[in-house]
Amino acid sequence: MKSYYKTDEWSVIEEGFNPKMQEASESIFSLGNGHMGQRANFEEKYSGESLQGTYIAGIYYPDKTRVGWWKNGYPEYFAKVLNAPNWIGISVVIGEEELDLHTCKVSDFRRELNMKQGFLQRSFIAEFKSGRQIQVNARRFLSMAEEEIGAIRYSVKPLNFKGTLVLTSYIDGNVVNRDANYDEKFWDITAEGFKKGVAYLQSRTRKTGFEVCFAMVSETELNGEILKAKDQTVQQKGYVGYRKEIDVSTHDEVVLYKYVAVLSSLDHQAASLAENSIQKVIRAAERKYNGLFADHNTLWEENWSNSDIIIKGDPAAQQGIRFNIFQLNQTYTGRDERLNIGPKGFTGEKYGGSTYWDTEAFLIPFYLSTEPPQVARNLLKYRYKHLDKAIENAVKLGYKNGAALYPMVTMNGEECHNEWEITFEEIHRNGAIAFAIFNYIRYTGEKEYLAEYGLEVLIALSRFWRERVNWSDVKGKYVILGVTGPNEYENNVNNNWYTNKMALWTMQYTLESIDYVMHEHPAQYQKIIRKTGFRYETETASWRDVIKNMYFPVLEERGLFLQQDGYMDKEQRMASELPPAERPINQHWSWDRILRSVFIKQADVLQGIFCFEDEYTLETIRQNFDFYEPRTVHESSLSACIHSILASRIGEAEKAYELYLRTSRLDLDDYNKEVDEGLHITSMGGTWMSVVLGFGGLRIREGMLSFTPSLPKKWKYLSFVINFRGRVLQVGISNQQTEVKIIRGDQLQVEINGKIVMCQPAKL
Ligand code: BGC
Repeated sequence: MKSYYKTDEWSVIEEGFNPKMQEASESIFSLGNGHMGQRANFEEKYSGESLQGTYIAGIYYPDKTRVGWWKNGYPEYFAKVLNAPNWIGISVVIGEEELDLHTCKVSDFRRELNMKQGFLQRSFIAEFKSGRQIQVNARRFLSMAEEEIGAIRYSVKPLNFKGTLVLTSYIDGNVVNRDANYDEKFWDITAEGFKKGVAYLQSRTRKTGFEVCFAMVSETELNGEILKAKDQTVQQKGYVGYRKEIDVSTHDEVVLYKYVAVLSSLDHQAASLAENSIQKVIRAAERKYNGLFADHNTLWEENWSNSDIIIKGDPAAQQGIRFNIFQLNQTYTGRDERLNIGPKGFTGEKYGGSTYWDTEAFLIPFYLSTEPPQVARNLLKYRYKHLDKAIENAVKLGYKNGAALYPMVTMNGEECHNEWEITFEEIHRNGAIAFAIFNYIRYTGEKEYLAEYGLEVLIALSRFWRERVNWSDVKGKYVILGVTGPNEYENNVNNNWYTNKMALWTMQYTLESIDYVMHEHPAQYQKIIRKTGFRYETETASWRDVIKNMYFPVLEERGLFLQQDGYMDKEQRMASELPPAERPINQHWSWDRILRSVFIKQADVLQGIFCFEDEYTLETIRQNFDFYEPRTVHESSLSACIHSILASRIGEAEKAYELYLRTSRLDLDDYNKEVDEGLHITSMGGTWMSVVLGFGGLRIREGMLSFTPSLPKKWKYLSFVINFRGRVLQVGISNQQTEVKIIRGDQLQVEINGKIVMCQPAKL
């Protein structure tokens, strides 16, 4: 596939201005720093198609639910990530003409996302209708070191005229969401003005009452000299700015530095927000652009030293993986346990910026391996803190006895998704939450987590599964009816193999965990019993009964786990038979046709095999892969990665590679034709897994790291860095050998291709 963006190992580069690609590029070149994010909207006015997007972590609006037919149990609202006030705005006016790339003639356009240092750079020449030309060079970053700070360096050079250049640097609170159910306004402006050379604007979200304040300092230089003349203040309703008129001649350079502090009431008292923002931005401006950038850069260096992956011999694959790692690092830093990761991160409005099962199923492994345990632990604690809400949610649906059903989509622990087939039926999310606890402990060895937080969650989850199964007289087994599995192209199915497997495994793991906490942390165990009202004898006995008698659909003669009851009744077709014009089928087929078809949106049975791989023989994995993969259309971004890992597992390196490219370049090459809506951030964790778990063959077995690598033909060398139990390791894989070096920490025993070796700390 020919890529629109230039291939470069450390950057994404767009050469030439293509208005049709503008919204896609706005997603691709997005910046973030865990606290906030910004699509790559232009600083100057742009009257062409554009999705304006400034997002602040944890700030949302409960948009009233809109459905055709209300069903009891639907949540009242769907949370929306908010497009916050526009802080990047810089208007450029010469004479009567305002710079707008939609109306000017544009040449030499170049945009670069520098992933090594975390900045966005754009340069171009614009010719106005009058024939006047300017050259613009803009750079910006969202500070990783000072997460409430963003900075812009915006340079303008007149190329063929002498005249007055007017630059207005502003904050505009008059913003809307594209995704709004009733076209409501989401923000009220609560304060705006100028103080101590700072322009500020404070807005409050309707209903949720979050407040955010944007405070800006703007400085201008002409040919390297600071322009001392005072700026004119500009104030309109919901808009504050500083305006400067500068007399310029050909080849002069005017540079505007814009520093903005973005503070929210999640971290500050609303009453002191404006004052704190003003102080914050003044201090930032004192550090100057270069000083701020140097601090930011240090953090990126650190990020890369903990998470970089090097692929030699395949620049497109190299760019793909770095793009994924970059986005993951700039979306979630793990500093705040109230935050989570939306499927689009900070790059678009779709999915409301809310938390999905994606976090547990696709992201935890990345953060576990590239950050200290605290980061993944915060993601687990996020769910722990929502346990009461999950129990309330289950009560609303008719469950009793402390059963918890976590929401499929949430901001604050409440369910906010309202399609019955997902809200009520996609209950496998409960399994992912249990599995994440297991995964965390398997990786870190911190079993005490069970006593502190994990067990309480597991008990509530197992209670849910116990209530959700029912006894079938016909089958003489427990069954789970009316669910949607990970494959959302099937609804209301009975005995989805994956869901049944997750339910059974959760009960088993809860029993083991009870045993552990009871014996190793008896005091804490007593506390948990009191808090949850747990009745050991009856509850564990009834879970054991379900475990022993759970029904699973299988096709024994072919060694297949069946996706659900009746799957084999479908007309058996292969995805390769679909005409390209009909793909993706979700954009071309009626829902009715999709539901009855054999086609699978994303890994379903294979998702289960991926989780519990050690329980199955290679032959079983292969049989199921060979059966399901050809029926899968991979129309969820979460699909290709799991298939790629399993393909590596069964020795199909080239198939694994094909699927890897699809996952790692999903957005760069826009496979699903929707990148304009935002990036697929959560699937990026899956991409990382397809390299480290797939090609690198990393597994944890009985507390030991084990590697069984298999590289695609094209790759000469693969190396990745992982954190493991207080150490940082670098794993280097070539066709000849696999080498594990300890970069930080003590020696460690690991398994490489079945052999146990002792790895020594690298000599400095
Ligand atoms: C997938 C879900 C996923 C959601 C958000 C859907 O397309 O089918 O599994 O949770 O996107 O990423």
